[in-house]
Amino acid sequence: MVTQKLVISETQIQECVSRLASLISADYKDQPLLVVGALNGSFIFLSDLIRSMELPIQVDFIRLSSYDESTQSSGSVRLHHGVRTPVKGKNVLVVEDIVDTGFTAEFIRHYFEEQGAASVRICSLLDKPIRRLTSVTVDYVGFEVPDQFLVGYGLDYNQQFRELRALYTLEGVPQNP
Ligand code: PRP
Repeated sequence: MVTQKLVISETQIQECVSRLASLISADYKDQPLLVVGALNGSFIFLSDLIRSMELPIQVDFIRLSSYDESTQSSGSVRLHHGVRTPVKGKNVLVVEDIVDTGFTAEFIRHYFEEQGAASVRICSLLDKPIRRLTSVTVDYVGFEVPDQFLVGYGLDYNQQFRELRALYTLEGVPQNP
C-alpha cells in the first residue's frame, strides 16, 4: 500500500512563495520580466508565484525532460518545446520545481543566454544541493531539501500526485515505476 508522509505543509509553501515573490519584486523593481516555467513540474509553483509578484510580466513555458520516467537523472537533457516569446534583451526568470543534478537548470540558462537575454536568473521551489553534478547557480531557492524523493505541488511520481497541495514522501512504491 502506498502512503504519503507530509514533509512541507501548504502553509509553509505559501509563506515561502510570498517571501520569494517579495524578493523578486524588489530585485527587478518594476522592470519588465519574462517568467518562464519549466514544464511540467513548475506549473503550480509558477501560478502561485506570479500572482504574488508585483511586476509587469510576460509568461511562457519551456518543456524539457531529463528523468525519462524514472526517479534517476539520465544526465542528458532534451528540449521538446522552447519559448514562443522573443527573448532578446529581456530579463528572464526561469521557474523550476526542483534543482537536483543541475543539468536541466544549466541547459536552460545556456538556452536563454544564446538567445540574447539581458539576464537569466533561476528560481526553484526546491534545491537538493547534495545531488549537484554541475556548478549552476540557483538565484532564488524556496527550500533546501535532503536527498529524498518528494511529490506534490507540481512534483510527480510516474505523472501522479502533482495536484497535492503540500509536499510528501511516498512509502511503499517501487523505485522505478
Ligand atoms: C525534473 C524537474 C527539473 C529537473 C531537475 O523534471 O522538474 O526540471 O527534473 O533535475 P536535474 O537538476 O537533475 O536536471 P522532470 O524531467 O522529472 O520532468 P517534470 O518537470 O515533467 O516532472
